[in-house]
Amino acid sequence: MSIPHAELEAFRREFPILQTRTYLNSCSLGALSLRSMGYLGEYQALWNTMGASAWYELWMGRIGNVLDKVAWLWHAQRNEVALSPSVSAAVAAVASAVDYSKRNKVVVADLDFPTLVYQWLARPDIEVVRVPSDDGVSVDPARWAEYVDERTAVVATSHVFYGTGYVQDLAPIRDAARRVGALFLVDGYQAAGQIDVNPREIGADVYVAGPLKWLLGGPGLAFLWVRDDVISTLRPTVTSWFGAANQFAFRADELEYRDDAGRFSLGTPAVPTVYTALGGLEMFEQAGPQKVYERVKALTEDLVGRLRAGGFELKGAPDEAHRSGIILVRHADAPGAVQRLALRGIITDHRAGYVRVSPHYYNTVAENESFVAAMSKV
Ligand SMILES: Cc1ncc(COP(=O)(O)O)c(C=O)c1O
Repeated sequence: MSIPHAELEAFRREFPILQTRTYLNSCSLGALSLRSMGYLGEYQALWNTMGASAWYELWMGRIGNVLDKVAWLWHAQRNEVALSPSVSAAVAAVASAVDYSKRNKVVVADLDFPTLVYQWLARPDIEVVRVPSDDGVSVDPARWAEYVDERTAVVATSHVFYGTGYVQDLAPIRDAARRVGALFLVDGYQAAGQIDVNPREIGADVYVAGPLKWLLGGPGLAFLWVRDDVISTLRPTVTSWFGAANQFAFRADELEYRDDAGRFSLGTPAVPTVYTALGGLEMFEQAGPQKVYERVKALTEDLVGRLRAGGFELKGAPDEAHRSGIILVRHADAPGAVQRLALRGIITDHRAGYVRVSPHYYNTVAENESFVAAMSKV
C-alpha cells in the first residue's frame, strides 16, 4: 500500500526516540521533538537570565502563541480557546458552571474515558446515565435520544474512544442534546492531532483536548474550546485568578469573569509545557494538518490490512470511515507482549486484553511491517 506524503518522513530526524525505537504509542504520549527540546531550553534560559520578568515580557506571549495555534488548528476564534491544567480540570471547571437544580442528569457513553465520567460521578446529587455499547467498540448514535431527556443538564462524550479508536458520529448526539437544551461537551483528547477537529461544525458547546498525545506537546496542560455564544452563559464555581477579568488588578473583593474562554482557566499554567506544546504545534503547522491526517489514516489502514492478513484478531470499527489511528490487537497476554515488544525496541501499550498501537505521521510502512513480524513472535 502506498502511503501519501512521504516527504513527512523527513520529520523523523526531529524525534530522537525514532532513531533508536519503533515508536507506535503516540495515543498515550507523542514523541518528543528537538523543536520542543529547543523551546524548553529557551524557557530555562529566560528563567535564568530574567527571573520573574520573563513572565510578563515573554512567557505570557508564548501562552498566546500556543492559543493562536490551537485556534488555527481547530478552525476556531481566538476568544473561544483557553488553557487548563488537564482535561479533568477543564471539564471540572465547565461542570461547575452548570445549574443542576432543575435538571440533575448527565448522559455519557459506556466507552468514555473514566475521568470524563468522574466529574459527575463524584457528586451524589447528580444522576449519571451511561449509554450502553452493544458491540464493545462503539455506541449506536440513535440510542442517545433514548437516554437524553428534559432532566438532562449535560451530554458529554468522546470524539474518538480511547479503548477502540472508534470515531463517533457526533451529529445525532448533538441533536439529542439540543432538543432538550442540554450542554454538549466533547472530549477530543484522542482526536486532536490525528483527525480534523472543528468544534463549531460538530455543534459542540464545549470541546476539550490536550497536547500530550497526537499533538506531540507533552504532559501538563489541556486545551479548551467554548463556543463564543456559550461563554457568557457559564459562570464556573471552580475558578481562579487567571479566569478573572483584569487579573493583575488583584481585586479580592469581587469576581468578575473574563469574557472569553479564559474564564475557565485554573491558575498558573505549566510554562514548560507551553514551550514543549509550541514545538509540537509548530511541527504540525509545517507538516500540514491535512497531510498529517491523511498519512495517519493510510498507515492505519496499512497496519490493519497487515494484521488481518497475519490472522490477528482486531477490535475496532469494521469500516474505514469510523476507524482512527488506534488499533487494538487481541493477545492472550497483552501486558507481557508489550514488554517483549519493548525488548525488541518496539514501543506499544495495552488495554484490556489487547495490544494497542497508534501510528503517527512520523511512522513508516517498514515500521508497520516490523511490528506485525514481531507480534507473530511475541
Ligand atoms: C479520551 C481521554 N480523555 C481524557 C484523558 C486524560 O485527561 P487528563 O489526564 O488531561 O485529565 C485521556 C488520557 O489518557 C483520554 O484518552
